[in-house]
Amino acid sequence: MRVWLVAFVVRSVSSCSNILVTKGASSDGYVHTSYNADDAALFGAVPRWGAALHPPGSVREVWSWDLGIKLGEVPEPPQTYNVMGNANEFGVVIGETTHGGLSVLSNAGKTEANGTRIDYGSLIWMTLQRARSAREAVSTMVDLATTYGYASSMEGFSIADADEVWYMEMLGRGNLGEGVLYVALRIPEGYVVAHANQARIREFLPCDDPEWCRYSPDVVEFATKNGFYDGTVPFSFSDVFDPVTFEGARFCEARVWYVFSHLGKDFNATYYLPYARGDDLARRMPLWVEASNVSARDVRALMASHYEGSWFDPSVDVGAGPEHSPYRYNGLEWTLKNQTFVNERPVGTQYTGWHFVSTIRADVPPPMKALLWWGADDHSWSPAIPIHGGATEVHPSYDGQDCAGRSECRRARGLPGTVTDFDVEAAWWVNNLVADTVYTRYDRAAPVVEAAMARLEATLSAKLEVAEDEASRLEEEGLRSEALQVLSRHAVEAGAVATQTWTALWQRLVVLFIDGKITKPDPTDGVCGCVKDSAEFSNEWKQKVVDDTGNKYEEPPTQDPMLRAAKGLRRRASRRPIHKLDIKGVAGATRSTIQ
Ligand SMILES: *[C@@H]1O[C@H](CO)[C@@H](O)[C@H](O)[C@H]1NC(C)=O
Ligand SMILES: *[C@@H]1O[C@H](CO)[C@@H](O)[C@H](O)[C@H]1NC(C)=O
Ligand SMILES: *[C@@H]1O[C@H](CO)[C@@H](O)[C@H](O)[C@H]1NC(C)=O
Ligand SMILES: *[C@@H]1O[C@H](CO)[C@@H](O)[C@H](O)[C@H]1NC(C)=O
Repeated sequence: MRVWLVAFVVRSVSSCSNILVTKGASSDGYVHTSYNADDAALFGAVPRWGAALHPPGSVREVWSWDLGIKLGEVPEPPQTYNVMGNANEFGVVIGETTHGGLSVLSNAGKTEANGTRIDYGSLIWMTLQRARSAREAVSTMVDLATTYGYASSMEGFSIADADEVWYMEMLGRGNLGEGVLYVALRIPEGYVVAHANQARIREFLPCDDPEWCRYSPDVVEFATKNGFYDGTVPFSFSDVFDPVTFEGARFCEARVWYVFSHLGKDFNATYYLPYARGDDLARRMPLWVEASNVSARDVRALMASHYEGSWFDPSVDVGAGPEHSPYRYNGLEWTLKNQTFVNERPVGTQYTGWHFVSTIRADVPPPMKALLWWGADDHSWSPAIPIHGGATEVHPSYDGQDCAGRSECRRARGLPGTVTDFDVEAAWWVNNLVADTVYTRYDRAAPVVEAAMARLEATLSAKLEVAEDEASRLEEEGLRSEALQVLSRHAVEAGAVATQTWTALWQRLVVLFIDGKITKPDPTDGVCGCVKDSAEFSNEWKQKVVDDTGNKYEEPPTQDPMLRAAKGLRRRASRRPIHKLDIKGVAGATRSTIQ
């Protein structure tokens, strides 16, 4: 979903998914939030800024996350906090999904010259540098956007600390005015929210308790004055500023529907299916659903999901190919004979740049409060490494410094790899190798990667526990900087272990599944010590081939087994005359093509 603006292409980081879990809904009593940052052109590396004191007159350069252009400069506050990924040293975590909203209200593509200096990506990271709680973060975001101008289109922000989870929808006023329009709602305990590129807040008035609700007070007046709202129905923020279309339902709300189907206690998935399919756009889903016993692992599984087992499951029809891949490469929309069709847009997608699931805890020292299980590339097939908001270093293979993925900045900082420069020293590239191996060998490779993931997670969890014990002990002794060193060393080691493990895993996958085969050890084989089986496709797939081709591939009844053996049907027979057989096969195919 690309939006053309002036000379800029606003790339889709506009495709993301977030799940937010309040303490009361979680299995461990901790807040969990999650984020897939989905953009094929986004390099996955951990953005980070160290804590700093700024002398008067200091400024911060602001670079657009989506466009890679410098938007302007903003004065630094006297002090900024440590930011690691999308978390800070006080346990504040912020994520987002882009909603777009009415194009006339978009400020995307504007810069300082147009009076807007902060895009949504910078807004997140600058807020993490300045806010010590979720509530403070909500105010900081509004203040920054109002003071320096908001240079993006409509966004949904997930803002959490160890106690509170807020969900805010925000947009600019285009050329119709200055400042932002927003509503921020605190999610009630025991509830879960998900959002995915479609605005979701409907009626929210009266909004008179700032502990639970905040908004731009002139929002109704602004909408009325400019003809977006006629006052005949109660004011609904999302219906006014980002009305649901077929695409908004099918590509975006369907993801929320899938998450709610799994987590919502009273969520009737059947009832809301026509909405998620895009057939009944009036049947809006609730903003949040009641849930219980939701673990970080449940969240991770949903963030890595592809509509498995649902009406939308893309792994079961012929388009999935013989190995049930839920991934489709011909875009979200495709046409045939003037009719447009869609591919589903699952939560887990091949073009995720990076992702995390957070656990935010009140009962640990501040630098340990926010724990991100952070990963580069596709959530489904990349390892997640545990990193604390207070850590100040990551392994070089995960390092993004202050570049937010921008290639020119990565090169200038000497960081390994960009989206166009392959580098095995970069986790994003290594993880892509594993994931791409899975996409085209889905049934064979997916279980191998899942097992490796579980083993690595156990290893990393054990290391995490040791590091947290040590850091907590040092904190108790008042040795903050030593504790931070422990957290940083831990983050570096976790990255090293993950990248090493995934490099080895990729090599193993290639050996196991090369040439459409399955390589198994066989000590009785004197040549390779292995046996090579062919991938076996399902009966459903075979039926589709037969339906498509009639008797083209039908084989007559059995012949003499010895005669069959040498014709490439048996492994041993195939080893000796293999070249001859291949040539014969190719020649035969050529002949029949010519005929
Ligand atoms: C921003 O300002 C520049 C310089 O005045 C102008 O050329 C450009 O059209 C403006 N862009 C937008 C999106 O308004
Ligand atoms: C869920 O919705 C479907 C479709 O409207 C309805 O038939 C069914 O009775 C509902 N189930 C429950 C448990 O309410
Ligand atoms: C919570 O979830 C876990 C793991 O899925 C399960 O074993 C446990 O029984 C659940 N507890 C409750 C109270 O539902
Ligand atoms: C597609 O639409 C165009 C324009 O309406 C028409 O000329 C053409 O014949 C159509 N093609 C098919 C395959 O229906």
